[in-house]
Amino acid sequence: MKNYRIRLGVSGDLEALLLIESECFSSDVSFNSRQLKYLLAKKSILVATDHTNYAIGQITILIRHHSILNNLRIYNLAVRSPYQGQGIGKALLESAFKKYANQNTKRITLEVEEDSPAIKFYSSFGFKIESKLKGYYTKDKNGFRMVYHTT
Ligand SMILES: CC(C)(COP(=O)(O)OP(=O)(O)OC[C@H]1O[C@@H](n2cnc3c(N)ncnc32)[C@H](O)[C@@H]1OP(=O)(O)O)[C@@H](O)C(=O)NCCC(=O)NCCS
Repeated sequence: MKNYRIRLGVSGDLEALLLIESECFSSDVSFNSRQLKYLLAKKSILVATDHTNYAIGQITILIRHHSILNNLRIYNLAVRSPYQGQGIGKALLESAFKKYANQNTKRITLEVEEDSPAIKFYSSFGFKIESKLKGYYTKDKNGFRMVYHTT
């Protein structure tokens, strides 16, 4: 789909974001309405929208400011299933890099379920598995921390 746009998420996107969450993640790991409202208020979410300005994908970024270096964390990335495989996830990731990363950003990190197909997606961007996170999602659901070094 060529006809999409990427913009900052706003409170009016809440319903669409809940739909993305329910389609892309199981209920034990997905964001709820309260979390999404908080992240929208913090301007942490970029959305990809269709031609009607309705959100069909999102990326959530958290920035940890340290005295010298910033650590950027990709908290969530999801594209609704009918729109996957059309470059929208890649565009969201690139937009987030452009908007949030600066010369003080040395590391971009994320956590992903250990059996997620998204590991390949992130690897193709240069993310590398840094560590295994035992019981990270639920008691039986492990994760990986992946890291991208900007320099
Ligand atoms: C992971 C996800 C965000 C990717 O978004 P997308 O819009 O489908 O990805 P794109 O179309 O931009 O693909 C970008 C590249 O990654 C590759 N890719 C995408 N999904 C892939 C997958 N499941 N397995 C392997 N490679 C994949 C594509 O081939 C493409 O490579 P190319 O540019 O060389 O052709 C999307 O599949 C998704 O929402 N999945 C469910 C939720 C999830 O697992 N999120 C990540 C954990 S936080």
